[in-house]
Parts: sequence; C-alpha cells; structure tokens
Amino acid sequence: MVPSPYMNDDVHSFAYDTARVRWPKILVQCIEDLSLLPPGSDVQWFTGKFKELLSAIDEDKEVQPFTDAEIKLNPSLKVYNEQLTSGMTWKTGPWLYLECYLYQYINNFFISKSIDIDIFQNLKQSTLISSKLGIIELCKKINEFDFCSVKDDDKLIFFKEFIDISLWGNSTDLSLLAGNVTLEDIKSIQGAETRKANEKNILVNGTTDIFTHLSQAKSPVVDIVLDNSGFEVFSDIVLAIYLIETKLAGKVTFHCKKIPWFVSDTLEKDFDELFKELIAFGDKDTAQFVDTVKSYISQKKFVVTSDDYWTLCSPYWTLPRDSIYEQLKDSTLVIFKGDLNYRKLTGDVQWDKTTPFETALQDLKGKINVVSLRTCKADVTVGLPEGVDERLKAEHGEFWSSSGKYAVISFCAKD
Ligand code: F6P
Ligand code: MG
Repeated sequence: MVPSPYMNDDVHSFAYDTARVRWPKILVQCIEDLSLLPPGSDVQWFTGKFKELLSAIDEDKEVQPFTDAEIKLNPSLKVYNEQLTSGMTWKTGPWLYLECYLYQYINNFFISKSIDIDIFQNLKQSTLISSKLGIIELCKKINEFDFCSVKDDDKLIFFKEFIDISLWGNSTDLSLLAGNVTLEDIKSIQGAETRKANEKNILVNGTTDIFTHLSQAKSPVVDIVLDNSGFEVFSDIVLAIYLIETKLAGKVTFHCKKIPWFVSDTLEKDFDELFKELIAFGDKDTAQFVDTVKSYISQKKFVVTSDDYWTLCSPYWTLPRDSIYEQLKDSTLVIFKGDLNYRKLTGDVQWDKTTPFETALQDLKGKINVVSLRTCKADVTVGLPEGVDERLKAEHGEFWSSSGKYAVISFCAKD
C-alpha cells in the first residue's frame, strides 16, 4: 500500500518549515525583483498579487481551483484542478502538490498580462557568477582531458568522477538559499576536494551498475531530466561531454522546464544565459568550453528540449500514460537530476527508508531506465540498508534527509 504524502502541517517534515519560512522569503524576493518587468508594466498590480498570495499563505486560506480563463491560457492547470481536494489549505495540504501549485500560481500573474519574464533571473545570474571559480576549474579540466587515451579499463573510474560532478552540482539549489545555506557553502561544495570528501555521504551508489548497463548498450542514447540552471546544468553538460567523447552515448537530450520553476530550474533560455556568462568570465577555458557545447548542439549530439509534463504536480507514476513517455521509453538511460525529480519519482510519500527504489517507483518501475542523481533536500529517501536511517537520525537529528549533505545514486532498469 502507498503511504500518505508529506503534509505541510507535519512538524516532523521539512514541509512545515518550507511553507512557513521559505515560501514567504521567496515571494518577498519576487516583489523586489519586479524591477525585471518591461517598462510600462503595472508594477503595482503585480506587487498586489504577490502580497495577496503572501497573506493567503500566512492566513492559511483554502486553496482555490484555477479558473476556466486561466486553464485556457495554460492547459496544464486542468490536472491541478483534478487533484485539488476540497478544504485543502496552504499550511495543511500535501507538500508536493502545493509547492508545484505555488509556482504555477505565480506564473499565472505573468501569463495573464502576456509578459514573458523569468522572475528568478536575477537570483539565477548572481549565483552563476558566484560559481565562477568552480566553473573555470572544471572547464580547464575538460579542455585538457585526453579522452582518446582513456583505456576501457579506466572508463568506469572516470565515469564515477563525472557522475559525482553532476550529482554534487545538485547542491546548488537557489530555493535552499531561502534557508540557512550561504553562497560560500555552495562554492566549497563545488570543489574537487569536497567531492572526494563527500563520497562517504552517498548513501546508495548504483554507479557501477549504471556503467555496466550503459557500456553494454548497442547505440546508447541518454536523456537528462534537468534540475537547476547555473552550476548544476553546467555540471550536467560536463557529464554529457564525457559520455559523448567516450562513446558511452551517441546523443544526449536535455529536458528543461517550460515555466520558471522552484526558483532555479533550467529553462531552455538558461543555456544561452550560461553561454553568455561563461564568455563574460573572459577566460580562455570557459570560452573554449562554450565552443565545444555549441558545436555538439549543431551536430545534434546535444538536443535541448522542454515539455509541460515536468511542471505538473503529478508523481512520475503517471509518466507511462503521458505523451513524453514515447520520447523516453527507448532511451538507454533517463537521468533524473535533483531533489524535486526524486520526490516526484517516489511520490513524496512517507515510504519507510528501507523500501526498495523500484517499489517506490510504482507504475514507472520497469517502463524506462531510471537513474536518479539526487542530493537529499527533502524527507523522502528510499533504498537505504537497515539501520542507516536510525544512525543518521542519532547523529544529525530527524531532518538529516533535508540537509543537502547526503546523496543517492539510484538505478532501476527497464524490464
Ligand atoms: O524547500 C527546499 C526545496 O525547495 C524542496 O522543496 C525541493 O524539493 C528542493 O528544494 C528543490 O531542490 P532541487 O532543485 O534539487 O529539485
Ligand atoms: Mg530545482
């Protein structure tokens, strides 16, 4: 039986703090960033809308269905109405549903006025700039890397390193900045030394099985369901270059969000923003890196795409019934990046932490080749050996799984 979801009124869940502390901080920041609106926009109107939303959360109002007019402008919202239960309130309802609803609700402000902006752009850009040292370090490494000299026996060792780079790249999540994580913390997480030291914090590590699966495939293609822009998507591109250069993949498709999402998630335009910033660093290694990536895109070795499915509220158990499934079912590996993707893979429900990953995938189990590279920033974690949850609780308290210090690399192959 599927357990019940994490709820916003559960003091033992990270949801509790998120709804009361983090969401309001994010909304206040949005009001400050209304300066991004094009000239002539009705700033007052937008400020009013954000303030109304802040009060609705603060006063724990009942969450309202989206209107027909809103659904006409954004058909994804129909699914939200279907899953909205009567009497659901901001501070008591299910965390996953409400957090997705929140970002759709914000997006409605802008689409209702036909304004196409990313309200999180300033935050995204400043964090990207603060990642400069980590990015230059990695660009240099990639540019100097002699891929042809990688012997078959060494491919796994390097694969592990590049998987780790992409995994810990997920520590860079701007919505976490609304908590206690500083930019300094993020910077240090990006360094090679920190990655090594963090190896013991990978609680489930399916890297060797993933490598075996990939290296045995006939014409391997890889899909990456992206999470955050900036340093994280940069680290994903680094992994993808390794896959292409060592022929572990002939093509890598990057799946982006279509609307501004969970503050830092990658939109298609964030690839261009990344290229612009890397050039602006004025460093020869970052410029060369951009040339490499652009040439992969023009050769169709890299494909950048987006789909509304990624901004629904549904667990990925529904994926085999959605049209995007057609694009993913023949993929050699579908790598889901980050915490929110993991919450959606497992339904964000209160699984016992020793539940096998494939059980938590429900209807998705065996339908596609799933890999999750996730640093743990929420309560749900599965696939742990007996006793690990108890040990971590004793060492760090009940919120160890939301601290961003631990990670999982989980794999479930297609039947
Ligand atoms: O509140 C923290 C949080 O916003 C979680 O709700 C969410 O799962 C996570 O951060 C987003 O992390 P990521 O960018 O890794 O998906
Ligand atoms: Mg994210």
